[in-house]
Amino acid sequence: MDEQTSDAPAGSTAQPGYGVGPWQGEWPEGPQYDPELLELGDTRNVIDRYRYWRMEAIVADLDTKRHPFHVAIENWQHDMNIGSIVRSANAFLADTVHIIGRRRWNRRGAMVTDRYQHVVHHEDVATFAAWATGAGLPIIAVDNVGEAVPVDRAEVPERCVLLFGQEGPGLSEEALAAASGHIEITQYGSTRSINASAAAAVVMYEWCRRHS
Ligand SMILES: C[S@@+](CC[C@H](N)C(=O)[O-])C[C@H]1O[C@@H](n2cnc3c(N)ncnc32)[C@H](O)[C@@H]1O
Repeated sequence: MDEQTSDAPAGSTAQPGYGVGPWQGEWPEGPQYDPELLELGDTRNVIDRYRYWRMEAIVADLDTKRHPFHVAIENWQHDMNIGSIVRSANAFLADTVHIIGRRRWNRRGAMVTDRYQHVVHHEDVATFAAWATGAGLPIIAVDNVGEAVPVDRAEVPERCVLLFGQEGPGLSEEALAAASGHIEITQYGSTRSINASAAAAVVMYEWCRRHS
């Protein structure tokens, strides 16, 4: 990144690829800084503001400004998209990602972003729906089936859970029934649907466009 547009700390040293090398000069003070990263450099996939910060300090800082939307995805078949959805949820600063169904999920697509993102598990749709009711959060089903309203025309509440289905079956009947809103992304080509993680990124972006 160009030094003039970077908000990386002044002593950081750019490296080829992404990341910064060992801190040059006097170390900065503050509990957020990790001595090991200052000494060895920081090659993590984090924005410049968080260079050399401890992971816990980054999560604590994110927690002060998370958006009030949550993301949920059904996971009955180890959907490969979940990692990418977690990564997008981190990028768009979602409150929490909820995984419904199987506890195990493929972390590869998350590119380690799950360390900075709250992720919780629910055994089934009923447990998830009970949690959402208790939290006072409407569930917005996102799938291009039935009477879905195009997202650009739909109401997308500021506090809500955006619920996505998995590749193949899409959202289950139970998940659709638990939702109080139902939105879709308008398509123009021949494919029946877009990839679930692409759909999640579009809708999270739309939420941010309206509310952030
Ligand atoms: C690959 S789709 C499978 C189901 C899809 N309804 C079909 O008929 O092919 C997996 C998930 O991606 C999301 N998705 C894909 N395309 C979408 C669209 N155009 N609008 C809203 N959600 C979409 C939904 O959450 C869906 O459950």
